[in-house]
Amino acid sequence: MASSDALYHVGFGRGDLGPQPPVLAFLSGDPDRARYIAERYLTGVKKLSENRGLNSYLGRLRNGRPVLSATSGMGAPSLSIVVNELVQVGVRVIIRIGTCGSIQPYVKPGSIVITSAALCRQGAANDIAPVEYPAAADPFLTVALAEAARALGVEHHVGITASVDTFYEGQERTGSANPHLLRALRGVTEEYRRLNVLNYEMESGTLFKMGGVYGFAAGCVCGVIAQRTEAERVVLEAKAIAVENAIWVAVEAAMRLE
Ligand code: URA
Repeated sequence: MASSDALYHVGFGRGDLGPQPPVLAFLSGDPDRARYIAERYLTGVKKLSENRGLNSYLGRLRNGRPVLSATSGMGAPSLSIVVNELVQVGVRVIIRIGTCGSIQPYVKPGSIVITSAALCRQGAANDIAPVEYPAAADPFLTVALAEAARALGVEHHVGITASVDTFYEGQERTGSANPHLLRALRGVTEEYRRLNVLNYEMESGTLFKMGGVYGFAAGCVCGVIAQRTEAERVVLEAKAIAVENAIWVAVEAAMRLE
């Protein structure tokens, strides 16, 4: 049973985190990924909550350091709630482990993108900071992620991510239920490609702005599962390796942090 100080959405509180509470959280959009990270990569795992599909687990890295594997849900509004509550229970380092669509021909499905900063086109972020406020990852965490990827031999790219609110319209997908893509969004992928934006995803921009405002370190590593310079579809064959690479790199980076 959750402690009496359980937070409303994540369903656990400081009282559930034991005498050595974790300061680092892995944050996945998908609750199954949060569970998989805990079962596969952590030891001494305790299920904290699976409230609303926001699965959270407490465990330890190979070096004994306690960590959380938590779930943001899809998109920035859900992420903003979870991140706020994680910070309330003492988390100070958050590594988002997600998936993304490449918008550069050289960023291939199966590889990973480590986001250094986000082009943040997200409504939730505007409730947290002015639109001009930088959506920048923690530089030390970003370097740790890149060094981990290099050490593990994982194909990776470090750079700018377009972090948007919608998977279909906002990422210029025309083959969906919406018959009318707004004029403002037609051609946006090609424009971003020319601006050297690497990929699309849906959470990092708000996460990074929250990191700046709240004062925690935020990083983001995403497995590439779509090649938007070629097609709109998700390349399902690449998903397992892309996600495993992203998790592997995030865990190794966490091991390297002071
Ligand atoms: N996540 C996204 O936001 N876009 C993609 O194309 C794939 C995963």
